[in-house]
Amino acid sequence: MKGIILAGGTGSRLYPLTKVTNKHLLPIGEKPMIYHPIEKLTEAGIEEILIVTGTDHMGDVVTLLGSGKDFGCRFTYKVQDEAGGIAQALGLAENFAGGEPVVVILGDNIFESSLQQAMDNYDGTGAQILIKEVPDPKRYGVAELEGEKVVSIREKPENPRSNYAVTGIYFYDNTVFDCIKTLKPSGRGELEITDVNNFYISKGAMKSSLMEGWWTDAGTFESYQVANELVRS
Ligand code: DAU
Repeated sequence: MKGIILAGGTGSRLYPLTKVTNKHLLPIGEKPMIYHPIEKLTEAGIEEILIVTGTDHMGDVVTLLGSGKDFGCRFTYKVQDEAGGIAQALGLAENFAGGEPVVVILGDNIFESSLQQAMDNYDGTGAQILIKEVPDPKRYGVAELEGEKVVSIREKPENPRSNYAVTGIYFYDNTVFDCIKTLKPSGRGELEITDVNNFYISKGAMKSSLMEGWWTDAGTFESYQVANELVRS
């Protein structure tokens, strides 16, 4: 399986920290934010990793990360010209994936547990998501559950149907790229990963499991602070 880290976007919710740099280069604990998802992938034995980021700070990202030899992996880089959404960024990975299943991590997702168990549970067909109970589900893609089964996902709903956020760790087979080609931009003008996940749910090809340990994103001042505290402790 190959790994993909999505590290584009505008970082607007962390402005002015992100005025002259990419969000994923900001420190979390004693390391740049992007080191955390990289280490999760390499610890799980992933050796081929694609980093997708925007034009503004691609140079700095490459200067920081290099070829991957310092991390025991090989990096490939891809530019997302404009922040057209998570699914658009993922669509750029088709050639890199080369027909193999992929594990995708949003570059601002910081979490405690190893990816190993989720990787072992995923057989390389369909999709798999990890969900996590949160106090503020409105900020996320929210899973609607029947028993333990995810029957739909809503992106940032006004009235969440559960407290389970869909974390930014996704497993997809190669049909994800055909799905992305059919997507239309959402109300906020982005190709939404939630539409991709709902496509797999509608085909009966989505598995989900609860994420163990702590998890947070780090894309707002509050969650950035939380991520730092969790990593330090
Ligand atoms: O953190 C989990 C949540 O992430 C999910 O629950 C949501 O369903 C999902 O939509 C996403 O929500 P956010 O609104 O927090 O996503 P954000 O726009 O902050 O983007 C998350 C990461 O994705 C960011 O660190 C970089 C990457 N990204 C984002 C966009 C919009 C890209 O690489 N390119 C992009 O165009």
